[in-house]
Amino acid sequence: PVDERVDDLLGRMTIEEKIGQMTQATVGAVEAAPSDVGEYGIGSLLNGGSEALFDTPEEWAAMIDGYQDEALKSRLGIPLMYGIDAVHGNTAIPGAVVFPHNIGLGAAHDPDLAGRAAAVTAAETRAAGIHWTFAPCVCVARDSRWGRTYESYGEDPGLAFEYAGPVVHGYQGEDLAANTSVLATAKHYVGDGGTDYGSSTTGDYLLDQGVVTLTEEELRSIHLAPFQAAVDAGVGSVMASFSSTDLGEGPLKTHADEYLITDVLKGELGFDGIVVSDWQAVDQVSTDYAEAVRASVNAGIDMVMVPFEYERFISTLLSEVESGGVAEDRIDDAVARILTQKFALGLFEQPFADTAHAAEVGSDEHRDVAREAAAASQTLLRNDGDLLPLTGQESIYVAGSGADSIGRQSGGWTASWQGSTVTPTQGTTILAGIQEVASDAAVTFSEDASEPVEAADVGIVVVAEDPYAEGVGDAGAGEHDLALSEDDAAAVETVCAAVDCIVIVVSGRPVEIAPHLGEPGTPRSVDSLVAAWLPGSEGAGVADPLFGAAPYNGRLPVSWPRQTDDEPLNVGDAEYDPLFAFGFGLVTP
Ligand code: IFM
Repeated sequence: PVDERVDDLLGRMTIEEKIGQMTQATVGAVEAAPSDVGEYGIGSLLNGGSEALFDTPEEWAAMIDGYQDEALKSRLGIPLMYGIDAVHGNTAIPGAVVFPHNIGLGAAHDPDLAGRAAAVTAAETRAAGIHWTFAPCVCVARDSRWGRTYESYGEDPGLAFEYAGPVVHGYQGEDLAANTSVLATAKHYVGDGGTDYGSSTTGDYLLDQGVVTLTEEELRSIHLAPFQAAVDAGVGSVMASFSSTDLGEGPLKTHADEYLITDVLKGELGFDGIVVSDWQAVDQVSTDYAEAVRASVNAGIDMVMVPFEYERFISTLLSEVESGGVAEDRIDDAVARILTQKFALGLFEQPFADTAHAAEVGSDEHRDVAREAAAASQTLLRNDGDLLPLTGQESIYVAGSGADSIGRQSGGWTASWQGSTVTPTQGTTILAGIQEVASDAAVTFSEDASEPVEAADVGIVVVAEDPYAEGVGDAGAGEHDLALSEDDAAAVETVCAAVDCIVIVVSGRPVEIAPHLGEPGTPRSVDSLVAAWLPGSEGAGVADPLFGAAPYNGRLPVSWPRQTDDEPLNVGDAEYDPLFAFGFGLVTP
């Protein structure tokens, strides 16, 4: 039994070896001295930001196997776990399939489909020798100015609650040791989607790492429930949130919050997996590093995503244990949790990568699941004169910044941390999808709508946000607001003044669309409006319902404000007056 193996191993470990296991370093930090992995017995490596370091799963596996080799040279030969942000596909491989971000999956209202997407991601991730994904984000986004709204299934806790179980199961499968399973991470514990103004009021924090101010009852009813669902589904790890929580006595960094981590998560919710810190988040707990490490480990952090100065972390925690600042029992508890997951992953039996499924990375079957998910997430918000689905149009004019950009339609965490407007990965743009699905029509593309429009039967303008991941995309701080870009607004104006038009919004959250819509039926108004969210690599999934190859069935997972100033806007607010209400979505056959 795993418990006995864990106890036996733990009983033979020195305190230095135990602290090594609690250390997670970025692969860039150990690159210059790979033997440190074995020397310190480092528990885990990662590379942040879904960074596409290699082109193929086999190259990934070879890199990770090299470090595994070093880990196995440690005195007790304890294997390492490699982690990555495969949050909507394993985009660290350029050929991998990219799924819609969670906001789109939430719009689809189909947790089983999200679970199937997670299973594909798991297979494409483990085939590259990667054991651990920092997903799913089960945050409940309560303010669309929050730059990570797109990683939320929606503003309603019920959505994240329903998705958490099937998605965790999709990643972890029946057996974590299988070559198609990865360890999942429910993140960010807890309340990350509820920060004041979607960010910080003081400027002391990065834009998406603010303070969550609410009552304990609100915290529990809105933000905690999805973690209970993840725990009940057997999630192997939980990542603590960068945010601070203020339950009435002033803000406290979650990483140092013993009540929330140890009493509530591990105690009440019964979580017996690993609590991993966020990237360098322990450093934010105090300007005194020793105090920061002591407070975080005592609060219940089991593994620290250091991720650079691992020697400093190891020596600091060692001193804390020696001086009694951290009890050895707490260390034993943390290491037992880590070893348990390593046994479950089968790493002691099979430490090296099994690339048997490498050829399936980016396969047609996997792309079909992503296309299905993209189509299911399309949310029809206006359909004047039943313009959609389109039938029989001979000439189609396509414009807008989101029409021909796999980068924009995929968003952040796509082959790089913040995503990219330059093609980050393989796939089909929305324009290419339209050309494929409406193969009989003549399609003219002019991103800025500068070509003559009048001759077309219909116009499709795909407006888009630029990609972002974390630390940016925050309207409250004025860095990135919810308004359309001037170019996209001009394209809507030009096309909709000339022909029947459809506006497709590619974004991770509601944008300020009201000023551009016009009254239905009036000249120059937008006839049909679609929220496409961030559909991922399969642009054909956006095209399918446009032409009736799939129904429009999506429903808003967040309330759609009239203007940015309406935020936060949630169902149940006293003056709830959205442009489109939570749950709204027109359907087509
Ligand atoms: O997993 C992420 C987290 O969501 C945000 N900070 C960095 C982590 C690792 O890349």
